[in-house]
Amino acid sequence: MALAADDIQKVKSVWEKFYVNAEDNGAIVLSRMFKEHPHTVSYFTNFKELQSIAGTASAAKLEGLSEVRAHGKKVLSALNDMVQQVDNMDALKAIIEPLGKKHAVELKVDVKEFEILCGILLDLMAEKCGEDTKTDFKKVTDVVCEQIKSTY
Ligand code: HEM
Repeated sequence: MALAADDIQKVKSVWEKFYVNAEDNGAIVLSRMFKEHPHTVSYFTNFKELQSIAGTASAAKLEGLSEVRAHGKKVLSALNDMVQQVDNMDALKAIIEPLGKKHAVELKVDVKEFEILCGILLDLMAEKCGEDTKTDFKKVTDVVCEQIKSTY
């Protein structure tokens, strides 16, 4: 479902603040996902360091791995592209379609994992930018998850 005009302004402005620290915040989101939902590590077969230490290392240690940091930045950058088009559903769908298909077909990521990652992202946004942010930005992650589901 599309967002109302005042929601769009709110989410863009909060996202701008959060995205300033894209690499740090992306790495925190991923490392929490790996610790709180250990099965998600198994998708990242190319991340050799992660594979070797995920079972025993702390979230802080995982957060510092260069492969986790680089990927965290990539994920937030893709989300940034989506946030910029949140007021243009056709453009948003055009961004999400290939990414969703890649996760579904090539990476074989279960679609329910997106809800997990988005939940962690919203919690971190609340910690960094205030509790209200969560309610506001959930409107974005709901649209993103809905569109990703439609590509599966
Ligand atoms: C909104 C949420 C997500 C976004 C925006 C996102 C974004 C991306 C992007 C931009 C890439 C790189 C694609 C490319 O190189 O062509 C990628 C790769 C990948 N994603 Fe996601 N992703 C999300 C959620 C997830 C989740 C929930 C999982 C699994 C738990 C996952 C697993 C992977 C894996 C395994 C790769 C390949 C990593 C590699 O080998 O380099 N993603 N994702």
